[in-house]
Amino acid sequence: MIDLKNIGLTFARNGEQSEVLRGLDLFIPAGRFVAVLGPSGVGKSTLLRVIAGLLKPNTGSVALSTSPENAHLPVAMVFQDARLLPWRKVWANVAFGLEHSKLTTAERRAKAETALALVGLTGFSERFPHELSGGQRQRVALARALAVEPDILLMDEPFAALDAITREGLQDELARIHAATGKTIVFVTHSIDEAVHLADEVVVLAGKPARLAAAHVIDTPRPRRRNGDETAELVAQMRAQLGQTG
Ligand SMILES: Nc1ncnc2c1ncn2[C@@H]1O[C@H](COP(=O)(O)OP(=O)(O)O)[C@@H](O)[C@H]1O
Ligand SMILES: [Mg+2]
Repeated sequence: MIDLKNIGLTFARNGEQSEVLRGLDLFIPAGRFVAVLGPSGVGKSTLLRVIAGLLKPNTGSVALSTSPENAHLPVAMVFQDARLLPWRKVWANVAFGLEHSKLTTAERRAKAETALALVGLTGFSERFPHELSGGQRQRVALARALAVEPDILLMDEPFAALDAITREGLQDELARIHAATGKTIVFVTHSIDEAVHLADEVVVLAGKPARLAAAHVIDTPRPRRRNGDETAELVAQMRAQLGQTG
């Protein structure tokens, strides 16, 4: 569960103040897949960093309830770029977050293999990042996040740099992983279609300072078709909220 109450955040740089978030409330029950939509620069990444505990808000409170065994590390993040260490094999990249644990190398490797299987990369352990496609590298980044067995997965436009076909493949994979693991996912995107395809709920961030402009529950059954008629009206509504055309 994620419970944000009255979040306000102002950056101060060179004597200049920039208020990015104000009075933001967001409650996400455990297991829910929430997409955060909004224009570039509105504060989506800032919001994720607040949830991750990387940024301390000026006002409000952040509460994460997680399973007891995960209390030390309840969240994992995935970014637009994979951020892999080029000199490490795939499995050692995936095991990166386990290094400070008491696990043996064999145990870390086993956890890495399990995570790689979850993202469809069985048999890729011994490769180096440069021997992978962009989509495969992003799968490794997702496996690295899953390997620490977080309760909450924070994803910041994770598929934005991929071509359309690869992106759709990874979307399907993520939908499958969400169904299989029941993780709480906060997924930032600027694609309405991606948000509606994946999420249980889509929230729209807008304004400066940003607040939650809208929240839409997506209850079309899964597995979902792309661009189905059942969501056409909702998509049009979100386009209007975001000021997008076409
Ligand atoms: N560390 C920082 N210091 C000062 N301003 C920042 C910092 N990080 C982000 N900003 C500003 O905060 C606003 C929101 O940024 P961000 O959350 O990255 O937007 P988004 O992810 O929606 O594109 C932008 O105007 C950005 O320039
Ligand atoms: Mg961003």
